[in-house]
Amino acid sequence: MSRRILITSALPYVSGAKHLGNLVGSLLPADVHARFHRQIGSDVLFVCATDEHGTPTEIAAARAGLDPRRFCDEAHARQAETWRRFGLSFDHFGRSSAPSNHALTQQLYRRLDAEGLIAERGVRQVWSPADGRYLPDRYVLGTCPHCGDAEARGDQCDACSVLLDPEELIAPRSALSGETRLELRESRHLFLRQSALVERLNGWLDTRSGWPPFVVSLARSWLTADLKDRCITRDLAWGVTVPRPGFEGKVFYVWFDAPIAYIAATQDWAAAWGRDWRDWWWGEAARDSRYVQFLGKDNVPFHTVSFPATLLGSGEPWRTVDVIKGFHWLTHEGDKFSTSRNRGLSCDAALAALPADIWRWWLIANAPETADVTFQAARFATEVNKDLADVFGNLVQRVTRFAASAFAGPIPAEGRPDGLERALAADVTRRVAAIRAHHEAREFRRAAAETRALWARANAYVQEAAPWSAIRHDRLRAAVVTRVALGLVELCATVAWSIVPSLAASAIVAVGGTEAEVPGWPGDVEDVLIGDRSRARVPRPFAPVAKVDAESVGAACR
Ligand code: MF3
Ligand code: ZN
Repeated sequence: MSRRILITSALPYVSGAKHLGNLVGSLLPADVHARFHRQIGSDVLFVCATDEHGTPTEIAAARAGLDPRRFCDEAHARQAETWRRFGLSFDHFGRSSAPSNHALTQQLYRRLDAEGLIAERGVRQVWSPADGRYLPDRYVLGTCPHCGDAEARGDQCDACSVLLDPEELIAPRSALSGETRLELRESRHLFLRQSALVERLNGWLDTRSGWPPFVVSLARSWLTADLKDRCITRDLAWGVTVPRPGFEGKVFYVWFDAPIAYIAATQDWAAAWGRDWRDWWWGEAARDSRYVQFLGKDNVPFHTVSFPATLLGSGEPWRTVDVIKGFHWLTHEGDKFSTSRNRGLSCDAALAALPADIWRWWLIANAPETADVTFQAARFATEVNKDLADVFGNLVQRVTRFAASAFAGPIPAEGRPDGLERALAADVTRRVAAIRAHHEAREFRRAAAETRALWARANAYVQEAAPWSAIRHDRLRAAVVTRVALGLVELCATVAWSIVPSLAASAIVAVGGTEAEVPGWPGDVEDVLIGDRSRARVPRPFAPVAKVDAESVGAACR
């Protein structure tokens, strides 16, 4: 039986333009991993959703003159379209506002309450009469009491990094209206007693393996004696209502309900396809399934502390994550890509400038796996031109062109491979296994580097075997080399498909390969190159990979 694997990407916020940082920090590597697992025959479920609740959504909706529901309907549809154009192959792209998520969030809350893990406390919050709402800490601005910076936020001062409470700010004002008439009001809220779960969470973490070391260190740094209880309710209208007397008009905190949407999205997908969601999430049913989460480093505490606390604390047999693959930032000339600060390259601008695969290739080949990575238009253009146009594109071009001009129609099946081909087959077998191992280990940069090296090896073979000179005196030798080269291109494309699906698919077609929705991972490389499977192929034309011009990419950046 094929192995079951659940893959989730952190849920992108519904509001705000998505930029390449969102893509590379979770969505794209998750997609590459899902595609790779489909190639090796795993039973893959890849789910994601828009993260829709919370103050920023309410405010964005108000600014757009829409109620939050309508606003989210439109923003969700727009985002789904962007991800589709980037080739993200979700089995289900749901919404944290789905009825299934409301129900599940309330159910988990009731379980936590029954387990004695919910505490009710009074909280003092900033109320802005002019805005008619409570202001989350970061929506209060003022002068920093430590360094005097006038633009400090109520949660933190960016100038001196000190953590703040809004009431410490000098001359506080609303970030929404600029209004300085602010009041502190006491309101009742619910807390998840994470402090009571520190030991269980550490014990749980001890049983996980295969995580990037920085994710483990971040998780451990949170799971200490001073882990704070987390306030899981808010005074807002847009969200999951709190089923508790006295909590009318309040909703759960967005970070409480959002991760639960991983489960709700699975339930919705399963209901649509006649599958059982428990096979991924519940007790014995999920025993043989693996669960991998992809997320940016700022999301680590929520996925290693709060969400596991919700699941473990419920006392129910929820399946927790096996591996968290975390990412650092993609920066833009040194600054973090940012929607709120309008910095970097939006996904839509990127797609308007170049085909998705060009971005996919560079982002995966340079994924910020161990440290932040800077995006620079000039470097980007040089690298993709070399890898995709000069090495891969050129390989497919010269092989298919030669095959078509030297042999009209199928390549003759006679002639025997010699030592050059046998050495190639042994080498390629090793390289394909190495690429597979990197994908299995979720080492994306290594997988891309090894893929690039295979392409270069293929080019070197064609160069050395030189079918264009063989054809002049030994037609059968030229036929052998052409058959091997066509098979080689199919291998080069197949192992790159998870990263560059459209480009790979057109190369597979061009060498007369098997057309399939998911090209299976090559089982027997020797057979494809020099065995029975190096059968007669009819090559077809392949459009050259266009060169990228650094200036137009630079212009697309804001
Ligand atoms: N929306 C959050 C972000 O973009 C991620 C939410 S992940 C979830 O940082 F698990 F909470 F859904
Ligand atoms: Zn300061």
